[in-house]
Amino acid sequence: MEPDKPVSRQLPRHVAIIMDGNGRWAKQRNQARHAGHRAGVEATRAIIEYCVCTSIPCLTLFAFSSENWQRPKHEVSLLMELFVQSLKRETDKLNSNGVCVRFIGDRSAFSARLQKQIAETEQFTQDNTTLTLNIAANYGGRWDITQAARAVAQQVESGTLSAAELTEQHLTDAMCLADLPEPDLFIRTGGEKRISNFLLWQLAYTELYFCDVLWPDFNQQYFDEAIVFYNQRERRFGMTSEQLTQVQN
Ligand code: IPE
Ligand code: IPE
Ligand code: MG
Repeated sequence: MEPDKPVSRQLPRHVAIIMDGNGRWAKQRNQARHAGHRAGVEATRAIIEYCVCTSIPCLTLFAFSSENWQRPKHEVSLLMELFVQSLKRETDKLNSNGVCVRFIGDRSAFSARLQKQIAETEQFTQDNTTLTLNIAANYGGRWDITQAARAVAQQVESGTLSAAELTEQHLTDAMCLADLPEPDLFIRTGGEKRISNFLLWQLAYTELYFCDVLWPDFNQQYFDEAIVFYNQRERRFGMTSEQLTQVQN
């Protein structure tokens, strides 16, 4: 079935989502947390397809945070297995939908098998241009800032940049997603109102939308509600409302 077009006009160029609530979704059904994660994959698939259909060019999904290693061993290993299986199963379909899949985060902590699958999916889909899908896995905003600082420090160490010349732009350029527009809209499902170490640098001027729906229940209609919210915001970027009206006229 073809999804409906969203009701509002202005589409975000980049949506970043914390897909939260899988565990509670399963608990409500007296099921193991893993059932929630599996159901979460289905919701993820539907939202990716919706972004493709509605021409949202860029989507970033938080799949596993650098803090999620602290979960019970069993849950972590089931999640890792789910990542491998889902990538294996979905890569062809993503590719035929024109999705370019990229991963952000420290992948060196993953098993050789998962790293291989990630590399294969990235390579297979790298020339696609309909949707850039960034999967944040073993990602943390502080890790991202640290790796960017390290890269810039290396430039200083090698003499290609002096400390006095260092600007915000040097760090921006070294952060993950530097080649993409910054997220216009952030969505967190599951009711919590926190960033949980997601894109700390990149969300500086993003519109933040929190909803109570648990991720496995999140669908096109809820996504449209977030886009309606986005359209109601006035993005002032430090200016006054009057200035914006002048710019528009
Ligand atoms: C998000 O759902 C999925 C991951 C963090 C991998 P949770 O597993 O955090 O679900 P809740 O928050 O416990 O309901
Ligand atoms: C954030 O969700 C990470 C992902 C969705 C992958 P968590 O459920 O881990 O966040 P906290 O720890 O409750 O803030
Ligand atoms: Mg959670």
